Parts: sequence; structure tokens; C-alpha cells
Amino acid sequence: MVSEGSAPYHANGSALPKKLKFIDLFCGIGGFRFAMNAACKVRGLEGQCVFSSDIDVDAQTAYEANFGERPTGDITKVLASAVPDHDLLLGGFPCQAFSIIGDRKGFEDARGTLFFDIARILQTKTPRAFVLENVKQLRSHNQGKTLERIMETLEGLGYHADYRVLNALNFGVPQKRERIFIVGFREPRAFSWPAGGIPMRPLSAILEKNVPDQYWASARIRQNRLIKRADKQQFREPTVWHENKGGNVSAYPYSCALRAGASYNYLLVNGERRMTEREMLRIQGFPDSFKIACDYSATRKQAGNSVAVPCVTAVVGAVLDALNKPAVPPSKKLVQVDFAFAGEPLTASRMNRSLAPCP
Ligand SMILES: C[S@@+](CC[C@H](N)C(=O)[O-])C[C@H]1O[C@@H](n2cnc3c(N)ncnc32)[C@H](O)[C@@H]1O
Repeated sequence: MVSEGSAPYHANGSALPKKLKFIDLFCGIGGFRFAMNAACKVRGLEGQCVFSSDIDVDAQTAYEANFGERPTGDITKVLASAVPDHDLLLGGFPCQAFSIIGDRKGFEDARGTLFFDIARILQTKTPRAFVLENVKQLRSHNQGKTLERIMETLEGLGYHADYRVLNALNFGVPQKRERIFIVGFREPRAFSWPAGGIPMRPLSAILEKNVPDQYWASARIRQNRLIKRADKQQFREPTVWHENKGGNVSAYPYSCALRAGASYNYLLVNGERRMTEREMLRIQGFPDSFKIACDYSATRKQAGNSVAVPCVTAVVGAVLDALNKPAVPPSKKLVQVDFAFAGEPLTASRMNRSLAPCP
């Protein structure tokens, strides 16, 4: 939120236009777009999405149902010069190549090069700022070298960049979802990461009543969960039970991170039933006005892949606040590198990939 008493936008002669153009890369169901719109609205700004892209047909259908436009498909096939000019580049790029449950090949894995599609667009379109999101494990992948390489690349492109791991639980949703955010500015800015501290919306406000039979786990699974929690802390309020790979069952008054590719019984409300589509979307902070356009399994994957909207709203808001203030002297001199993205080569290995689920 814009703090009360702070100067209204544009009061200080900021160069920030009232209408801000942005692009929504790897857009999924539009978590970043909801966040950008919300962050702009409280600041009296207008976000205008000028380009979106996602390769997944179901995600495109859901996005179109909610925003009235169908995203472009595979970004690796889009020339950076064909992307419209924009002020902000937003994107939760796919995590597969960095996943702790993936093959850990990082940049050697062609899928990891989707980061380079972001890089080549930054290089060609030079937006004022960007916000990227990925799994927390990116920070430690390959002893930190993967992230180091990403930061070097961003700085080499002329961006003053910083990163931080944030937990959605600190931004009002009942979900422990730790994600790394990377923000960057063309001109150095006094950027402050959002502190969080937003009270959690209780699960009781998220859970639906009279949930149909198809969401309930079998009697055998429920019994098995009950046995595993028999000697553990019991709760009066609703909880989400999570069975880890070792078979241990935890229960909390919030959910563990939704995951696109997890087993159907990975998370069970009160150890009894799966979450409905609407509950999963609420746990990610999507408004109830979000139109569910796909079947259960596609929506479940989309919700698991998406972002926690209030957390992203806070990060994007902090970026807008920083852009609204004058540039500051750089904290370090950037060594710009002449990356050879200009040719934008598309090799066979970068096309038609089938992607494994994110953690
Ligand atoms: C982690 S999800 C991001 C979800 C999004 N932030 C949201 O709020 O729903 C990554 C997305 O990248 C998409 N993707 C993967 N490869 C792609 C490609 N080559 N071009 C465009 N999108 C791609 C996937 O389909 C997936 O929806």
C-alpha cells in the first residue's frame, strides 16, 4: 500500500507516466497481471499490458477468459524486436532447470535458457524495470553459481538488480510459499523490499462449504493420515495436512506451497479432502472474480504454477514507488557486456520442450 502521508504520485515531478505499459512473460493465468493492476490502482496509476506469452494452451484459455486476450505462445519463437515497447517486464520464468527435484543441470539444460529469452528482450527493449520470480532453490542451485550468473547477466545488460526470498505467508495468504524475486532498474533507484507483516487470512475464510464428493479422499487414505497424526498436535481450527516424501504428515492452519505436479493427495484439508479449484486460487490470493475456465486438473496445475498475488503486488508496488522517486547515485559501477543475443538463434533443442513440474 502507498503509505498515508507520502507524496502523491507525480507530485515531485517524477518522470513516471500515469499509464504504465508492461509485458507479462510466462504469464500462466495472470498472477503478475492481477498484481500489477492492483499495485497500480492504489497508486492512481494505470497498468496497460501490451504483450503476454505462455506456451500452455490451457493457461492461454484461462488467461483469455479473464483478460479478454489470448497470450502469444512459445516465447523462444518471438523476436525481441516484435515485442512492443514497455516500461516494466514481469515474469515468473519456469523453474524446471533449477529445481531441486529436477536434474540439476541449470544452464546446461536447454530449458534453463528461458531466462535468456528474458535477457534478450531486456537487451532489445530496455524497459525501466523488471520483476522476475522463481523457486527459492534458485538461490542455492549449483552452489549459488546459477544465480550469480543470472545477476551478472542482468548487470551486464545495464540493470541495477537485487534479489530476495519472500514468503507469501507474510503477505496475507494462508500459504507458506517461499519464492525468490529479482528486481532490476535501468537507472539506480532507492528500492526497498516490502516488509510483509500482513495478517494472514484464516483458512476458515478460504474454505468452501458443502464440498462435493469428488474432492474427498478415500476412506483408506483418510484413515492412514489419521494414524500418522494420532500422537501429534491436534487443532480446533481447520488445517491443511501435508505428507512429505518420507511419509511424515504435518498439519498447519495454513497450506504448504501449492505445486503444479504434486500427487492428488499431497495436501488434504483436515486430512480429508483435496482443495477445490476456488480454494486453491484463494490460497494464491486470486479474487473470486477470477473465472475458472478449465477442468480440475488443468486449474490445479495452473494454481500450483502461479504466484501468490498479494506478495507480487507488494513487490511490484515497491518497484513503482522506487520508480516514482528520482534516480540515485549507483551503489556500484556496472560493467556492461555485449551479449550476443541480437541474432536470437532458435535451435531445435530450444523448441517443443516438454516441461517437468515445478517443486
Ligand atoms: C512458473 S509458471 C508462471 C505462472 C505465472 N506467473 C502465473 O501467475 O500463473 C511458468 C509458465 O511458463 C510457461 N512456459 C514454459 N515454457 C514457455 C515458453 N517457451 N514460452 C512461453 N511460456 C512458457 C509455462 O506454461 C508456465 O505457465
